[in-house]
Amino acid sequence: MQPPQSQPKLQLPGIKQILAVASGKGGVGKSTVATNLALALASLGKKVGLLDADIYGPSIPTMLGIPGIVDQATTPLPLERHGLKVMSMGFLVPPAQAVIWRGPMVHRALTQFLTDLDWGNLDFLVLDLPPGTGDAQLTITQTVPLTGAIIVTTPQEVSLVDARKGLEMFRQVRVPVLGIIENMSYFLGDDGKRYEIFRHGGGKKLARETQVPFLGEIPIDPLVAQAGDEGLPIVRKLPENLVSKAYQELTQRVLQELGSLPAPSELPSLT
Ligand SMILES: Nc1ncnc2c1ncn2[C@@H]1O[C@H](COP(=O)(O)OP(=O)(O)OP(=O)(O)O)[C@@H](O)[C@H]1O
Ligand SMILES: [Mg+2]
Repeated sequence: MQPPQSQPKLQLPGIKQILAVASGKGGVGKSTVATNLALALASLGKKVGLLDADIYGPSIPTMLGIPGIVDQATTPLPLERHGLKVMSMGFLVPPAQAVIWRGPMVHRALTQFLTDLDWGNLDFLVLDLPPGTGDAQLTITQTVPLTGAIIVTTPQEVSLVDARKGLEMFRQVRVPVLGIIENMSYFLGDDGKRYEIFRHGGGKKLARETQVPFLGEIPIDPLVAQAGDEGLPIVRKLPENLVSKAYQELTQRVLQELGSLPAPSELPSLT
């Protein structure tokens, strides 16, 4: 599928800001960050939606404890969970059923999720993007009026290389990159020592090199994975936990960065 170069962007008047959580690489914690960021924003009193844009491998249903297919006759979509409005392909298709869709169908599904569902008025819609920099990501960046992108990486070099690719993709389509998050940054032992399991500081270095803000580092903690699997993300389950604090801080950084974005008319035009 050719990227829809001249595709007009969708008009979503009820949604004030759309944030994409992305990375070129799989398994670095995009869905975990997207979910906890959405919940942290909601706990600040914002109206927040969470759209699982990972059509092939939706993980938001598990992370929010919404098992199985949703009966649309009784449960209107997007459904409400933990104060969020949530939509995922996982509500329509059984998890075990591989969704073997081609690019245009992914595009259509996402367009329908965004335009045909009643999201109401939202301060933020957080998009959990699939891994990679392929058709699905290009479609989203070119057709959804994204306010900004948040890039998630883990500290090691293989992840950083892919994170950079993801970041450059947003730049090419003129979506502001709000910053980089280093996930699984370190482990804090019971002895109070920091263990840098996957090395450390790569996210900051990437932020410096690409001249985007560094939004923060999230420690690695088995409680994060446990909370995700239980369907009650850590910022809700254990708001006082070190990891939850890290999420709350990075949410503040995201709000700061949003506050300092130039108005769209001030962005340089493409040459
Ligand atoms: N800070 C953390 N500490 C411990 N476990 C974590 C942390 N962040 C994420 N995880 C766990 O790592 C796994 C992968 O996270 P997640 O699904 O969010 O990654 P992803 O980037 O969305 O993956 P995919 O590319 O497949 O969409 C999950 O089991 C999650 O619970
Ligand atoms: Mg994911």
